[in-house]
Amino acid sequence: MAQQGIHGVWANRWTFVLAATGSAVGLGNIWKFPYITGENGGGAFVLVYLLCIALIGIPIMVAEVLLGRRGRQSPINSMRYVAKEAGLSSNWSAVGWMGVLAGLFILSFYSVVAGWALHYVFQTGMGAFEGATREVSQGVFGELLSNNTALISWHTVFILMTVGVVMAGVTRGLAMVARVLMPLLFVMLIMLLGYGMAAGDFVGAAKFMFSFKVSALSWDGVLIAMGHAFFTLSLGMGSIMAYGAYMPSHSNIGQTVVTVGVLDTLVALVAGMCIFPIVFASGIEPSSGPGLLFQSLPVAFGNMPGGLFFGTLFFILVSIAAWSSAVSLIEPGVAWLIETGKFNRVTANLVLGGASWLVGISCALSFNLLADFKPLFLANRTPFDFLDFLTAQVMLPLGGLFIAIFVGWRMAKAVMEDEMDAEGHPMLDIWLFVLRYISPVLVVIVFVITLMNTFAG
Ligand code: TRP
Repeated sequence: MAQQGIHGVWANRWTFVLAATGSAVGLGNIWKFPYITGENGGGAFVLVYLLCIALIGIPIMVAEVLLGRRGRQSPINSMRYVAKEAGLSSNWSAVGWMGVLAGLFILSFYSVVAGWALHYVFQTGMGAFEGATREVSQGVFGELLSNNTALISWHTVFILMTVGVVMAGVTRGLAMVARVLMPLLFVMLIMLLGYGMAAGDFVGAAKFMFSFKVSALSWDGVLIAMGHAFFTLSLGMGSIMAYGAYMPSHSNIGQTVVTVGVLDTLVALVAGMCIFPIVFASGIEPSSGPGLLFQSLPVAFGNMPGGLFFGTLFFILVSIAAWSSAVSLIEPGVAWLIETGKFNRVTANLVLGGASWLVGISCALSFNLLADFKPLFLANRTPFDFLDFLTAQVMLPLGGLFIAIFVGWRMAKAVMEDEMDAEGHPMLDIWLFVLRYISPVLVVIVFVITLMNTFAG
């Protein structure tokens, strides 16, 4: 509960901002955003992504925090509570169920990539990239992808780190870590930006990321951009709802959410502007896929003064950013299992962490043993790509759609005004308008067009 001292509200608001930023800023910003931007032609993709953040992500994030703070429980039970309060069917808790499942699926492949980052802490620290060229860094990455033992071990280590934190219930402690380490990560990115300006193809990178060429973007790309807006803001599955449940009653949700959204977007854009100057200067293909971060930045670290130190620190910070995000992926499920009364924190974590670990094995092997395993039931994708697609492009937008419909169309305005202390505030009406008529409509339009294209093609 909120401590209502003179500075109490502020302190608590910042705790939420830190926890939510810890959840939002992660591999999505530093690993995924640059590589999907590279795969989808740059500028036009970035613009659509920014529009999705503003018109879909931020409004839905406000709705999610609102639901969590009203329900004050795990997303499944919060949804049940707010539905009951509105006189609606408890089936709305399905939003929470889908979220728990989506969280487990995301953690499965997220943990594999976080494992790559952990591996890179040691590779960089041991000097594997001293004086490295593109060939060297690509070689090191290829070696990792062919090393099943390393892939599975690092994936296991990361799942253990995640359940370790969630078991101890120290999400608040993690917020403290975020207070120091997130800014440090940002400083590192700014430093890399400086290196890119001095030694990379900075102009080429800026042109790629910010010049708008519609022809470079397909409808699939639009869906990917929209899905990524959900992914990067941790939306559509209950992470933010679960954190909203711990937010003090009288703090400004809108302001808080905008802070988190802007920070998250800034980190992604800066990460892109760190990676692409190196990509273009060293002749790496922008569309190289999930390996882009791991093939490009080591070239920079291998050739800058102090690169051994900075590179090692960078991958440590990326791992920690991934860690504080992963925690929020299983917290909703863990909270729910505990609420059933049949599990404690330890057993709940063993069940959910174990499930993600098991599914994650298939993701870890998706780059070698299972690289050609693209069955129809996985939509012709490897397990890794399928789970990424299923969550980011289907489950999260769908979850967000239902959240927008519930809050926009089903929740009593009096409840919102009460929860947000915003009676008669013009921003409330603007937000509600967007949440009703713009966010859900855009999600549906993008869904329908991509579906039509899939069946037409
Ligand atoms: N947003 C995080 C990232 O960008 C990942 C993440 C954490 C997430 N919790 C989530 C994604 C919930 C979707 C839903 O790395």
